[in-house]
Amino acid sequence: MKRIPVEASRKYDVLVGYGILENAGGYCREVIEPCKALIITDSNVEPLYSDTVTASLLNSGYSVFHYVFTAGERSKNIHTLTAILEFAAENRFTRTDIFVALGGGVTGDIAGLAAALYQRGIRYVQVPTTFLAAIDSSVGGKTAINLIAGKNLAGAFWQPSLVICDCDTFKTLPDSVFADGTAEAIKYGMITELPLFEQFEHGSISRDLDNIVTSCVNIKRRLVSRDEYDRGARQLLNFGHTIGHAIEKLSGYSISHGNAISIGMVMMSRAAEQMSMTREPCSKRLSRALERHGLETECPYKAGELLEAVLGDKKRSGDEITLVIPTRPGKCRLHTVPTGDIERILELGLKRGDE
Ligand code: NAD
Ligand code: GLY
Repeated sequence: MKRIPVEASRKYDVLVGYGILENAGGYCREVIEPCKALIITDSNVEPLYSDTVTASLLNSGYSVFHYVFTAGERSKNIHTLTAILEFAAENRFTRTDIFVALGGGVTGDIAGLAAALYQRGIRYVQVPTTFLAAIDSSVGGKTAINLIAGKNLAGAFWQPSLVICDCDTFKTLPDSVFADGTAEAIKYGMITELPLFEQFEHGSISRDLDNIVTSCVNIKRRLVSRDEYDRGARQLLNFGHTIGHAIEKLSGYSISHGNAISIGMVMMSRAAEQMSMTREPCSKRLSRALERHGLETECPYKAGELLEAVLGDKKRSGDEITLVIPTRPGKCRLHTVPTGDIERILELGLKRGDE
């Protein structure tokens, strides 16, 4: 098992290994004395992994409660959040107790926000069970729900006390959900680490998942420790996300986060090439790598349709928006543009290179 320390406003470890869910309680006990633990999970993950985590927490002296919500991005809303907070209050959780987010990024984001809000903040443990949650959403303390107006528009920075990532849980993921994680892993390769990108471009990944998770978490922890509150370097992690969030919203969340950011990354790369901002062309390499892993790369919406949703994104600040521009595979940079330029950038992003 690997132990990766994260240095942020709260210091914590990310544990990465195989079969480690069975000792989840023991790992929790290393950092949090036995107390009440509320396992927050979704309707798909509950029958798969809740018993294992519950038994381990009970064996380590915790008393365990469960809150299960309907799986899916559409549950990442204020109603689910309120229901979790009311459940904790009805069961007399106090500030010395903990929440345990068992599931993918939806569970982690909503349980993390509930932990940030409940009695002005209680500790929580992330137990990611999707590839995406393992490499991205469980680390770094961004928590959120979606509003009707758009994606992740209400949230808080609230770091977990521990992250327990058992790569064995990926074995039960549907291929399309695994692919969503691949999109974020390719993003890490594109923004800072060419060899990681090349592994997805040409190599095999299935036997190397714990190393890939470790590489991604290492990239993320470096960016989070430099810029926990997303005012600078951390924004590189948003590559493809401004357009991706717009696509998710326009689709009513029927296009998954991974597919949406996959399309968003390709569009940003095409636009950057056509604006002569790249040092090497990268959009074709990027789209081939994404398609190799079953991800969508073509946007079903027109520039005008995307524009409004992009302008509602939280990465906008006044009349400007900061975009992540690839200069070559393995290197991206931040570039702030006036919001008036966005429609043209979207149009360029929609043009395939061979058109
Ligand atoms: P998800 O949590 O909805 O999980 C996807 C599907 O897989 C769900 O149906 C879930 O029930 C199921 N599932 C989860 N684990 C499983 C397992 N081991 N076996 C079988 N099925 C399983 O989605 P996701 O792709 O994990 O996460 C996407 C979310 O993460 C989005 O809301 C996105 O905004 C958010 N996100 C947040 C951050 C952050 O920094 N906070 C970063 C990236 C993405
Ligand atoms: N997923 C983007 C971030 O954590 O900053």
